[in-house]
Amino acid sequence: MQMEVEPQVVLNSGRRMPVLGMGTATYPVAPDETITTAVIEAIRLGYRHFDTASLYGSERAVGRAIATAVERGLISSRDELFVTTKLWCTDMHADRVVPALQASLRTLGLEYIDLYLIHYPVRLKGEIQMVFASDDVTTVDMPTVWEAMEKCQSLGLAKSVGVSNFTCKKLADLLNHARIPPAVNQVEVHPVWQQRKLRDFCSEKGIHVSAYSPLGAVGVLWGSNAVLECEEVKRIAESMGKSRAQVDKLLPSQCRKNTLLH
Ligand SMILES: NC(=O)c1ccc[n+]([C@@H]2O[C@H](COP(=O)([O-])OP(=O)(O)OC[C@H]3O[C@@H](n4cnc5c(N)ncnc54)[C@H](OP(=O)(O)O)[C@@H]3O)[C@@H](O)[C@H]2O)c1
Repeated sequence: MQMEVEPQVVLNSGRRMPVLGMGTATYPVAPDETITTAVIEAIRLGYRHFDTASLYGSERAVGRAIATAVERGLISSRDELFVTTKLWCTDMHADRVVPALQASLRTLGLEYIDLYLIHYPVRLKGEIQMVFASDDVTTVDMPTVWEAMEKCQSLGLAKSVGVSNFTCKKLADLLNHARIPPAVNQVEVHPVWQQRKLRDFCSEKGIHVSAYSPLGAVGVLWGSNAVLECEEVKRIAESMGKSRAQVDKLLPSQCRKNTLLH
């Protein structure tokens, strides 16, 4: 099934973002070929927004898929896509931000990223890894880290910059010193975790909220099946003759956010 032309939102940076994005995080990390094949197929079906991160180990595979999609004429250039990647916590230091994005761009084989996000408002010691202990957490100097994120945008390496997993308090603190406000806050949002206070705050400040884990996360690392087992989702699905996942994926879009699917 081919998707209709994807609806878009205009971010506070003035850039347009397709509202439906395909996530590329897997745990354990899937082989490159699997991710590349999935992304090419998604482009063929009409997806134009892809979400990766240095943490996910999917940047190389996503980059290969984009190059292949251009070669095969599925898209005429990379500019037709909206690609997000993220700064991992081990690079949450002012001196490491621009080099971390440059490394991501090399891995992706891209000259610029559409959206660069601070993955978590936390700094970690050591090397990139999915699982970490509380001893690995160290202090973060957010004003200087954000200044470096702004530099990524002014250098043209990122068209927009934003954050992920930020609370109202963390955003308010950031807005006190930001020259460029974050364009996006990517957080967990679904019918049983609607984030109303955060969505209202972001709406007031012109920050777009992107929803991750729209079906919950019945994963190895975290999450439960509480979303798909939610009685209200079941009831709506039955009354509409749709699957629970189909109903659930529709609900966040009614809350004026965008959604990362897989
Ligand atoms: N910024 C962040 O901190 C952050 C955090 C998490 C995710 N993300 C982004 O968001 C993307 C999506 O994340 P996600 O947590 O939603 O992970 P996901 O692995 O895409 O999906 C989560 C769960 O939903 C289930 N599911 C998906 N489609 C379904 C369907 N049609 N019917 C029934 N169950 C279904 C999956 O089951 P199966 O495993 O059986 O497919 C999986 O257990 C990620 O790839 C990543 O790009 C960002």
